Amino acid sequence: MKRSFFSGESGVSPDIQTAAVCLRAGGLVAFPTETVYGLGADAANAEAARKIFTAKGRPANHPLIVHLARAEDAMDWAADIPEVAFRLADAFWPGPLTLVLKKQTWIPEIITGGQDTIALRVPAHPMALSLLQAFAALPRRAAGAGIAAPSANRFGRVSPTAAAHVREELGGMVEMVLEDTTQAGCHVGIESTILDLTRLGTAGAVILRPGGLAASELAEVLGDLPRPPGGMSAPRVPGALPSHYAPGTPLRALDRAALGAALDAAGQTNRRCGALLCRDISGAPGLHVLRVLSAAPEVYARALYAALRELDRMEFAEILVEMPPDTAEWAAVRDRLFRAAAK
Ligand code: TXA
Ligand code: MG
Repeated sequence: MKRSFFSGESGVSPDIQTAAVCLRAGGLVAFPTETVYGLGADAANAEAARKIFTAKGRPANHPLIVHLARAEDAMDWAADIPEVAFRLADAFWPGPLTLVLKKQTWIPEIITGGQDTIALRVPAHPMALSLLQAFAALPRRAAGAGIAAPSANRFGRVSPTAAAHVREELGGMVEMVLEDTTQAGCHVGIESTILDLTRLGTAGAVILRPGGLAASELAEVLGDLPRPPGGMSAPRVPGALPSHYAPGTPLRALDRAALGAALDAAGQTNRRCGALLCRDISGAPGLHVLRVLSAAPEVYARALYAALRELDRMEFAEILVEMPPDTAEWAAVRDRLFRAAAK
C-alpha cells in the first residue's frame, strides 16, 4: 500500500512526516531530543551531512553521532559489535547514551571524520523517535536509515534546549526547526554520555564525554566503572577541546567563597556581573543578577544551557558560575562548566 506523506494515514503528525521527507531530500532539520536539540541530516548522504558542518562552522574532521530509530538498526552501521554493547543498548536505549563502535565500510567519511569507528544513539524524546521512525519508513537506497545530528548550535557555543535557541542561532541555515509540541522537553538538558567500546581488550570501556547517563549506572551493566577519558590515542572529541559550550560573555567558574568575593570586587568598580548558583547566597546582589539553579545535579543540568543563554544576552562584564562539588554525580555538569570557562 502506498503511504500518503502528508495525511495522518501513517499515524505520523504532518510536521514530522514533512521533516522526514525533507531529510530524505537532503535538507537539514533541527529536532528536540531528551538531551539537547540536534541538527539533523541523512547520515547516508554525504552532501547533506556536509551542510551540517557549514551551518555550525564545525571543523570537517569532527565526527557526528548517528541517531537510530531502534537498537537493532545499529547492525546496519556498526561491525564486530561486542556483546556488552547489546546489553548496554537493552538497558539504556532509548536514552542519553552514545556508543562508539567499529564502523561498517559503506558509511560516508564525513560522518566518521575519517576514523574507523562510528558513534550511535537511540534518543528517548518522543518526537525524535517519531522522526527517526518516519525517516526509516521512507524508501531509500543506502544500507541504513539514520540521522546524523550534532547539537544544533554554532561550533563551540552553548547547546540549545529549545526551538527558539536554534532559530536564534541557525535560523537561516536550516530547512525546518521542529517545535517541541510534547511535554517532554530537553529534560536531561546536557548531552549524552559517550562510551567507547572499540578498545575493550586494551583500555576497557572508556567514557569520552560524561553526560546524561551517570558512570555509576553504566557500571551496573559493565560490572565495573568505565574509564575516564585521556591517553594519547583517544579518538577526537570536540567536547574535549578546551573551549566549548561557551557563551560570548567571559565566564569564570569559582567556588562559593571566591564567587562572593568576586561579586563584591566587581561591585566596587561598577562592573555588572551575572551569577549562576547552586544555592542562594546571602547579601544583596547589588547591581548583579543572580540565577539560582538547583543543588540537585539533574535539575541543575536541565536548566543550565537556557540560563547561560539568558545571562549571555544581558551583556554583563562577566558571568560568574559557582562550581558544584567535585563528586561523581556532578561530573557532567562540571565538565561543561570547565569548558565554558576555558579560553
Ligand atoms: O546528546 C547528544 O549527544 C546530542 C544530541 C543531539 O544527540 N548530540 C551531540 O552531538 O552532542 P555533538 O556533535 O555536539 O557531540 C558529539 C560528540 C563530538 O564530540 C564528536 O567528536 C563525538 O561525539 N563523536 C562522534 N563520533 C565519534 C567517534 N566515532 N569517535 C569518538 N567520538 C565521536
Ligand atoms: Mg555539541
